[in-house]
Amino acid sequence: MACSEVAPIVKVGGLADAVAALSKTMSRLEHKVTIALPRYQLLDNAGLMLARRLTPLRFVAGGETVEAVLFDARLSSGVELVVIDVPGMFDRDGIDGFDDDAKRFGWFCRALTELIHKRADAGTPFDAVHAHDWQMALLPYLLRCAGRPVPTTVLTVHDAVNQGRFPKSAVAEIGLDQDDFNPASLEYYGDLNMLKAGVLSADVVTTVSPSYAGELEQSSGGAGLDGVFRTRHEHLFGILNGIDYAVWSPATDANLVARFDAEDASNKGRCKAALLHELDMAIEPDRPLLVSLGRIDEQKGSDLLAAGLAEILRTGARVVIAGEGDAALMALLEDAAASSQQDAIFLGAVSEPMSHRLIAAADAVLVPSRHEPCGTVQQIAQRYGAPPIARSVGGLSDTVIDCDAHCETGTGFLFDDATPEALIGAVQRAVSTMKTSAWGTLRRRVMRLDRSWERSARRYARLYQSR
Ligand code: GLC
Repeated sequence: MACSEVAPIVKVGGLADAVAALSKTMSRLEHKVTIALPRYQLLDNAGLMLARRLTPLRFVAGGETVEAVLFDARLSSGVELVVIDVPGMFDRDGIDGFDDDAKRFGWFCRALTELIHKRADAGTPFDAVHAHDWQMALLPYLLRCAGRPVPTTVLTVHDAVNQGRFPKSAVAEIGLDQDDFNPASLEYYGDLNMLKAGVLSADVVTTVSPSYAGELEQSSGGAGLDGVFRTRHEHLFGILNGIDYAVWSPATDANLVARFDAEDASNKGRCKAALLHELDMAIEPDRPLLVSLGRIDEQKGSDLLAAGLAEILRTGARVVIAGEGDAALMALLEDAAASSQQDAIFLGAVSEPMSHRLIAAADAVLVPSRHEPCGTVQQIAQRYGAPPIARSVGGLSDTVIDCDAHCETGTGFLFDDATPEALIGAVQRAVSTMKTSAWGTLRRRVMRLDRSWERSARRYARLYQSR
């Protein structure tokens, strides 16, 4: 697994959780998994035991001979880690967003290519190389260019909005083949596009939900690469992310005052009362409690929530919003909550334990994303008996089935338009269902859904063996 982040040691977004949980599940299924990660400065405080290898990984790029240093380590889940220090590239404060990101991740992929070749020379080759997002997308390309036998390569696109697009000068800096700077390979409107190179060179391209796989091939969803994705149609697969049951299980969750499951959810009420108390909200157990948890961002529809909040509260529900991100949107939410007489609270960033308590207390969870390749919070919410109220897009439409009028089928409440009105409409439907006996059945149904990684890990394993 080649990745720029892995939970719990380096986490920017959902990618870190996905790689960690997939790797752990693969090892449980008897595959030997190694995760490769850059040696960021912040790893020094991550509690890892790094064992330095004596022989460096050597390559030439942009006229320079680079010697990358290799460290072995292990995640707490037992999965093996190789940490690669490319001199001058990662020993800084931060993960990405630097002017020389092309060189940083390009050189990392060069070093990793050397490691993969060395392992083959030593008679212990990797059977498959799984690269994640644009940061690692050059890896399948570099392996293919090396003129040696190539392991099966899989590229997973967690979000095609981020592509690793850089000026042409990066091609020489990374030491890529100038002849490949053409539209059939590295070039994209005069720039280097790393994601494009990866999509075109990997044996298999996957993304994190079936619906998003379809969206990628459309002009509205492919972020300008829809044509490129269409050329890989036969080799493009949408595989849903799961959630890590070791972390997210209401029956064993040590962060909660009381534990519950689908068969006996009565303690969920205790979790709700405890949270209301903790937040200084009136303990009115029968009033619906809606929770929104995650990055505050236009992509996540935070503006829709801010605009619709007053009307949502008019249903009698109360709302707790947690997360950080876009400063202007945070201010909007803060204002909207402040004018609500304690019926809505904006918490800003919350701790990991608090995020567990919020989901456990929630009657329903709000997920009004404009764009969502997979999404995690709606799946966690289902497991904790809080049906999601979500926009019908990407992975949300694969994980939430809209409830029918009598709530006999369905696993949440979906709305189509990215407007406050559509969100409000779905909340009204959910809140009126909460008052009926159908709600308990719905809650049990969503808690019983299989959201484990097992099935997806088996699908990835088949892809690793597909060539
Ligand atoms: C990205 C996507 C998100 C997905 C996550 C893990 O963050 O935006 O939808 O859940 O990757 O694959």
